[in-house]
Amino acid sequence: MKKKRPVNLNLSTMYFPLTAIASILHRISGVMIFLSLGVFLWLLGLSLSSPDGFLRVSYILDSYIFKFFIWSILSALSYHISSGIRHMMMDFNLLGVTLQIGKFSAQISFFIAIILSILSGVFVW
Ligand code: HEM
Repeated sequence: MKKKRPVNLNLSTMYFPLTAIASILHRISGVMIFLSLGVFLWLLGLSLSSPDGFLRVSYILDSYIFKFFIWSILSALSYHISSGIRHMMMDFNLLGVTLQIGKFSAQISFFIAIILSILSGVFVW
């Protein structure tokens, strides 16, 4: 018997659901924060090594590119925390685990993360 298999899938009609995007971004933001810890520890070590090292770190921190780097890490942290709290609330069954609540809580965590990243931009610049 011939199996009926889908052919010629129109990929442009398929998209990730919001909850999947929220989950992937949570993982990406976690990895970004983890990798950035190395850079921050290196800077801490350099700043404590000597007065000259301290001046070098002040110079690095003043650069536009590094400010952008700090802002992206703070934004990733904002998202990771807001989405992490959402995860934990779901794990403790404080929110409920329906698709509708999942979508709504993902939207709220995006909103909180956007506000926090705007505030961190103001803080950094
Ligand atoms: C140094 C700071 C942090 C780093 C490097 C970090 C990194 C990560 C990474 C890599 C994951 C794995 C993601 C995955 O496998 O999907 C994760 C998961 C998680 N993080 Fe963080 N995280 C940090 C801080 C936080 C904070 C402050 C919270 C609290 C809000 C938090 C809440 C969570 C939760 C709840 C999960 C599990 C999500 C799930 O069940 O899929 N994390 N974190």
